Amino acid sequence: MIKLDPIVISGKEVWPLIEGGKGINVSNGFSSGAWAKENCVGTFSAVSPDFYDENGNFEQEVFTKKDRKERHEELVQYAIRGGIDQAKVAHEISGGNGRIHINMLWELADSERILEGVLEKAKGLIHGVTCGAGLPYRLGELASKFGVYYYPIVSSARALQILWKRAYSKFTEYLGGVVYEDPWLAGGHNGLSNAENPAKPEKPYSRLVEIRKFLNSVNMSDTPIILAGGVWNLDEWKDYINNPEIGKIAFQFGTRPMITKESPVCEAWRAVMMKVKQGDVILQKFSPTGFFSSAIKNKFLARLMERKEGEIEVTREPNNEFSEPLVVNQYKTFYIRPQDKEKAQQQIDAGFTDIQETPDSSVVFMTKEEVKEMKQDRANCVGCLSQCQFSTWSRASGTTGKLPDPRTYCIHKTLYDIGHGGSVDNNLLFAGHQVYRFASDPLYRNGHVPTVKELIEKIKIGE
Ligand SMILES: Cc1cc2nc3c(=O)[nH]c(=O)nc-3n(C[C@H](O)[C@H](O)[C@H](O)COP(=O)(O)O)c2cc1C
Ligand code: SF4
Repeated sequence: MIKLDPIVISGKEVWPLIEGGKGINVSNGFSSGAWAKENCVGTFSAVSPDFYDENGNFEQEVFTKKDRKERHEELVQYAIRGGIDQAKVAHEISGGNGRIHINMLWELADSERILEGVLEKAKGLIHGVTCGAGLPYRLGELASKFGVYYYPIVSSARALQILWKRAYSKFTEYLGGVVYEDPWLAGGHNGLSNAENPAKPEKPYSRLVEIRKFLNSVNMSDTPIILAGGVWNLDEWKDYINNPEIGKIAFQFGTRPMITKESPVCEAWRAVMMKVKQGDVILQKFSPTGFFSSAIKNKFLARLMERKEGEIEVTREPNNEFSEPLVVNQYKTFYIRPQDKEKAQQQIDAGFTDIQETPDSSVVFMTKEEVKEMKQDRANCVGCLSQCQFSTWSRASGTTGKLPDPRTYCIHKTLYDIGHGGSVDNNLLFAGHQVYRFASDPLYRNGHVPTVKELIEKIKIGE
């Protein structure tokens, strides 16, 4: 048994249990409202959240404009509408219990404008904002302006120190907590820095202690630390609870709430998660944001991995090392090392006849259909990210000025599709590295799908 006590989060005493924000449409008003109803914290995602027509019916995101900048503007307006709609749903379901947070991906283009648009119109419905992916310097100021608590998501004390020094020290009143998201274990995007080895996970304990020491040093000792990533049951985290070295702690669950009655995740995706084995979640760098991320190895991810494995370094001019010509799509010649000749030929023989250049002096091998789809996806770009490696869209200047990267994919397209019942083979399935535990956890035996209430009751007793 564990001894869990309520703590103050976003100005109210609640259970220190949080559903993490998950885009697109993986945590929404229905799931977050259900968590809040149980006097916990629910977080809905502000990344392309669902919005409804005047009769309350779901409206699909449809982009009508020819120009990408204008489509981006449509996306922003949809996100503001959706954020307000999801806040209303969450509030209604919560019955005024618990706390409702909104999650924003900082790397989203115009994330500040979307947040402001939602917070302005959803006053009193949203109590906190969590924000990760990048260093959200402006988050403190923005949340404080609306009297809403803010929660930066960091993966080290160092990141917090940088944020604090540059921005948050001026906005202490509304710093509600600090989310430490384990960059090796959490689902979705992962904040691994260049200094960290993706193959060498580190335990969170000493990292949490460092964060606590820093918070104490700036007189924020009462501010909770929220541990996210790899938390399945609290029995395994007993040492972290009521531990003076860590101080006030809350636990954030990302993957586990995905199999609950209130979760918007479709049945086919649930079925995949129920069967996943240990090691089937891959930490990789294919996201067009440039961040690491963790997803289930399905057909979609396996093909990206295969493409990356087939990558060959090239030069434009021959030299002693790169002496072997490689004719690309009948109009261009690159030069490769002689030892890569066989690797290139094998891929061409296997049908990957369309050779695509990357921004890193290399090429990858794709099928004609894959290239056609890639080009179509780029043409359909709605400018969701502030900088996109896949399409080279840049919110600030129109283009990143680099070559589009064929090793990545359109994250908006795939996350929107899977978030609305799309194919579990041909889309990206974000998941935390503990997802394999669904298969053996007795709560899910015989295909049982618990309610959020049931799940929270189990979590509270450490199961
Ligand atoms: C499908 C999925 C989507 C996610 N999307 C987001 C997101 O949009 N923004 C974010 O800050 N975190 C996102 N996360 C991370 C979760 O909020 C949470 O912190 C993380 O999953 C915790 O690790 P766990 O999965 O091991 O519980 C996502 C996680 C998953 C599994
Ligand atoms: S191509 Fe890039 S910026 Fe455009 S919608 Fe897709 S992921 Fe977003």
